Amino acid sequence: MSGGKMGKLRVGLLFGGRSVEHAVSIVSATSILRALDRSKYSISLIAIDPTGRWHLAEEDAVLAEVADEKGDGRVFLPAVPGGTTLVPEDSTALSAIGALGDATRLDVVFPIIHGRGGEDGALQGLLELAEVPYVGSGVLGSAIQMDKDVAKRLLEAAGLPVTPWITFRPGELDRIGLEAAATRVADGIGWPVFVKPANSGSSIGISRADSIPELIAALADAQRYDRKVIAEKAIDAREIEVAVLGNDEPEASVPGEIRSAHAFYDYDAKYLDDATELVIPAPLAPEETAILRSLALDAYRALDAEGLARVDFLVDRETNDFYINELNSLPGFTDGSMYPKLWEASGLPYPALLDRLIALALERHDHRMRLETRAPGDPRET
Ligand SMILES: Nc1ncnc2c1ncn2[C@@H]1O[C@H](COP(=O)(O)OP(=O)(O)O)[C@@H](O)[C@H]1O
Ligand SMILES: [Mg+2]
Repeated sequence: MSGGKMGKLRVGLLFGGRSVEHAVSIVSATSILRALDRSKYSISLIAIDPTGRWHLAEEDAVLAEVADEKGDGRVFLPAVPGGTTLVPEDSTALSAIGALGDATRLDVVFPIIHGRGGEDGALQGLLELAEVPYVGSGVLGSAIQMDKDVAKRLLEAAGLPVTPWITFRPGELDRIGLEAAATRVADGIGWPVFVKPANSGSSIGISRADSIPELIAALADAQRYDRKVIAEKAIDAREIEVAVLGNDEPEASVPGEIRSAHAFYDYDAKYLDDATELVIPAPLAPEETAILRSLALDAYRALDAEGLARVDFLVDRETNDFYINELNSLPGFTDGSMYPKLWEASGLPYPALLDRLIALALERHDHRMRLETRAPGDPRET
């Protein structure tokens, strides 16, 4: 691993993206940029604009400007191993980034792109082909954590508690019609239900339904965000989250609780409303805390998570039953976000958390590079 200037590791902070969570990603990246230890790292800002183009800038640039599709410095990452070097798109980009010098050579990438195209394995596939170490789960772990249907199936197969659900595969809602689909959900699950695009995030496309007309509207809305849609039993629940960190030997943080004044933890509650309160550690009996931490680690392993993930629980207010709601492979990283706050409360301050995530990325990459690529008897030289 070659360090950049003065032996500093060059971190490519990759943010923005084409998903509905573009703006959230910019806020997360702003926090990370502020907390990265500049005595250890030089930073290349790499924004993916809403059209999917990549823009490179030095660490003192304004993130929202870098992520603007009209911005210059357009680069791409060739999907071939070796260089881990960003290439200017054309001569305009070349002159724009000409002065950036070392910024094109990345030692490790910190992708903080939420949702589709960032958290679903696609980006991880590109980084694998380019042989760049990167923070977080690999292709498989990212994809299965993102897909709420596949994640539930695997959690259930591992004997972990999930809420009952029904999946409508791509095309199925069109084929059977929304009314028949709503009846199937009402008969199979009862009321109330949550309807979700299988792949989304930040509560976008998610709604609660208490009647057939609401359910039909909810299914139609969810379908706008993903062709695969799930409906699941709504729980009157406390929302508890646990942060997990590590590769082969993951560790779980103290649990935290989200208290939202909204009917559920929707997009506005997540990002626009100061009334949402994070209670850390979550008020729980010691044995409940122990069970949640252990379930979080089991879920992390069941979904092939690496580096980090936030494991979100629903705790039934009546029965006190625990359900794993979802895992987030690249959780929110803003100043107010649960993931970094949980580690802070567990004794790991934000800058040290970032050091650890980068070290885990390098470790994972190192393990991968050691894997045998030759068949037995292959005459190629090493
Ligand atoms: N089965 C459920 N019962 C009760 N509330 C739920 C249920 N599923 C989702 N919610 C509410 O909706 C929010 C968003 O759902 P979630 O599955 O976490 O999607 P996202 O990936 O968008 O965060 C949750 O934080 C919670 O407030
Ligand atoms: Mg969630």
